[in-house]
Amino acid sequence: MHRFAYCLVTAALAGAGQAAAATLTLSCTALGAEADLCREAADRWSAETGHTVEIVHPPQSASEQLALYQQLLAAESPDIDVLQIDVIWPGILGPHLLDLSGRVDPDILSAHAPALLAGVQRGDAVLALPWFVDAGVLYYRADLLDQHVYDVPSTWQELTETAAAIQEAERAAGNDRFWGFVWQGRAYEGLTCNALEWIASFGGGTVVDADGSITLANDAAAAALDLAASWVGTISPPGVLNYTEEDARAVFQSGDALFMRNWPYAFALAQGPDSPIAEGVAVAVLPAGGPDGNPAATLGGGLIAVSRYSRHPDEAVALATFLTSPEEQRRRAIAGSYAPTYPDLYGDAELVAAVPFLGLFGDTLASVVARPAAVTGGYYNEVSSIFYGAVHAVLSGAQSGQAALADARAELIRLSRGGSW
Ligand code: GLC
Repeated sequence: MHRFAYCLVTAALAGAGQAAAATLTLSCTALGAEADLCREAADRWSAETGHTVEIVHPPQSASEQLALYQQLLAAESPDIDVLQIDVIWPGILGPHLLDLSGRVDPDILSAHAPALLAGVQRGDAVLALPWFVDAGVLYYRADLLDQHVYDVPSTWQELTETAAAIQEAERAAGNDRFWGFVWQGRAYEGLTCNALEWIASFGGGTVVDADGSITLANDAAAAALDLAASWVGTISPPGVLNYTEEDARAVFQSGDALFMRNWPYAFALAQGPDSPIAEGVAVAVLPAGGPDGNPAATLGGGLIAVSRYSRHPDEAVALATFLTSPEEQRRRAIAGSYAPTYPDLYGDAELVAAVPFLGLFGDTLASVVARPAAVTGGYYNEVSSIFYGAVHAVLSGAQSGQAALADARAELIRLSRGGSW
C-alpha cells in the first residue's frame, strides 16, 4: 500500500516536472561508499523524470559540513536544492528548510519509525525526511580473538585489557604498527558521539538531560573520560586525537587494529571484495561501563531536506521523496549496510538474509542514546563543541576528567543563561 501511494505521488510529480526539465543540485556526503550510492540514486531519478541532478559533496567532518551549510543558507543561496543533513541539525537549520508537510504523502511519513519521524517534526512542520539511522557499534577481529583465546569484551575495562594483551602479542609476532583500539578522537561532532557512549554507559548521563538540566559534571562521567584518556598512546595511536570515521576505518580495514568504534557503513566496506580483513571482521554491541552497567550507542543518521531557497521546490521535494523511499533505503541497506528508517524493512526476510548486519544491529538499536539536540535546539552546536572541547582536553592530557567537566559545566550554564535553552 505504501509502495502504491509512493508511486502515485512520484508519477504525479514526475509528470508535472516533465513540462520543463530542471537542474537540481544535491549535496550528499562522501563517507565510504556514499558518493557512489548517491550518484546511482540521482541517475535513477533523472532517468525517471527527465530532470538533471548535479551532486556536490560537503567536507567530511560533520562539524565542517554544518558550518558550510549555515553559511550558504544564511546567504539564502539557491545553489543547493536538496541537502543531506545530520539528525542533530533540524533545530539548527530549521528556519532555512522547506516545510514538507502537505507536500509528501502522509502514508509515507507515518511509515518511518515514530521516534525518527518525531526528530524531523517541529510542531506541524516536517523539516526533513529520514534517510538512514546510525548508532555506534564495536567492530572486532573475530579471527584474532579466536587465535589469542579472548572473548568479545562486555565492559570498557575488559576491552582495555584485551586490546593491550593482543596488541602486545601481535607486535611481538612482527606487526609493529598494530593497535588495540581505534575510534574518533578529533575535536569535532564525532568525538561528541564517542564520548557520549563512554559516559552514558558509565551511568554519567547525556550532557544535558531531557528537561534541559546540565548533567555532565559527575564522577561517573569523569571516570569514563579518564579511562578513555589512558588509551591514547597505549592501545590507541597518539594520532587518534585527530581521527574521524574514515581515519579509524583506514587503520582497522588494513588489518592494523583489533577493535574499532564506528557506524554501520563501515561493515559493508570491511566485508567488501578488496578488504584484507573481510573474513575476520565481526560486529558487536559496544561495551558497558561496568559489570552492572548498560551499553550505550549514540543515535545518529542522515536526513534529506529541501532548501527554502530552492528555485525548483516541487522537483526538489520529489527528489527528496525518491531518495528516502523504501526502495532506495532497501538498495542502500544491501549495497552499503545503511540501516533503514522504515521498521517494515527489518521484517523483510529477504532483506535481512541479504544483510545479516541488520539482524545484529537490532540489539544496538535497543541501547541508543540521543544527543541533547532536541532539548537545546539552536544551541546544540555550541553545546556539542563545549563538550567535545572538554573531552579533547582530557584525552590530550591537558586536564583531568573532573576539571575539564567542571569547566565545561560552567560554560554551558553561561550559554544557557542558567539552564533555560
Ligand atoms: C555520522 C552520524 C551523524 C554524526 C556524525 C559524527 O555521520 O550519522 O549523526 O553526527 O557521524 O561524525
